[in-house]
Amino acid sequence: MSYNNIYTNTKNSITTITVNRLTKLNALNKETINELHEAFKLADLDKNTRVIIITGVGEKAFIAGADISEFSNFDDKQGEALAKKGQDILFNFIEQLSTPVIAAINGYALGGGLELAMACHFRVASVNAKMGLPEVSLGLIPGYGGTQRLPKLIGKGRALELIMTASMIDANTALNYGLVNYVKPLEELLPFCETIAVKISKNSTTAIAAAITAVNASYKNEINGFDIEINAFGKCFNTKDFKEGTTAFLEKRKPNFY
Ligand code: COA
Repeated sequence: MSYNNIYTNTKNSITTITVNRLTKLNALNKETINELHEAFKLADLDKNTRVIIITGVGEKAFIAGADISEFSNFDDKQGEALAKKGQDILFNFIEQLSTPVIAAINGYALGGGLELAMACHFRVASVNAKMGLPEVSLGLIPGYGGTQRLPKLIGKGRALELIMTASMIDANTALNYGLVNYVKPLEELLPFCETIAVKISKNSTTAIAAAITAVNASYKNEINGFDIEINAFGKCFNTKDFKEGTTAFLEKRKPNFY
């Protein structure tokens, strides 16, 4: 599959998706959002992909936000449609994938860029990364889930301060806030994410998918996450991976998961 704004690479069961709009600091225009949807969908369906890493091309930006030039003349209905479609096809879509997604934040992650990183299952940043939701400086608010995910990740007070000041935090502050799990030198960022991905890929994909569903349920007010967990836990007992995992343990060998 060939794209205009992204490229993908699959190696050792890891698919890396790279946003490739260097001159626009990898800002998300409509075409990029559509291509990312397609790439995430294909990677999730690909039996050879056990983990997905998303990053940005170059040394300056992960994603510097939604492409401002595309919506500067929108009215309220167009704005609402933009947020709804983006949330449906990319941000919520990533969060709900059964394949683990790691954001490798290699520079600016602003606005939609930070929102995309927050939709991933977890985040690793390079030391030069800068993160923020600067939408109020444009007369907007975050529209790709930022007002919902940021408070859950770093707490309401810190989230509102970051949103209201439209300022950026550096990688170590993000680490201190729990927004990212690790901070690494830029050249070590992708190799480090790949090391974690390899660790993940040794485990049961069906169990990992169930864990993602159950953990996601803890973030939804309208459903009881404990019930979802009980149901997902029970279903694991019917899987080949459960038989293999427990048999391998009892036989004192490493499991060969499907
Ligand atoms: N949308 C569209 N274009 C963007 C963009 C965005 N979100 N972010 C950066 N760009 C473009 C710039 O317009 C510029 O294009 P040009 O060379 O054709 O003029 C190019 O990327 C480089 O950006 P520039 O601003 O010159 O780089 P900088 O190093 O001076 O500043 C930033 C970097 C990230 C601080 C600055 O680009 C910025 O504030 N971007 C917008 C961030 C934002 O508000 N995001 C939320 C959007 S809702």
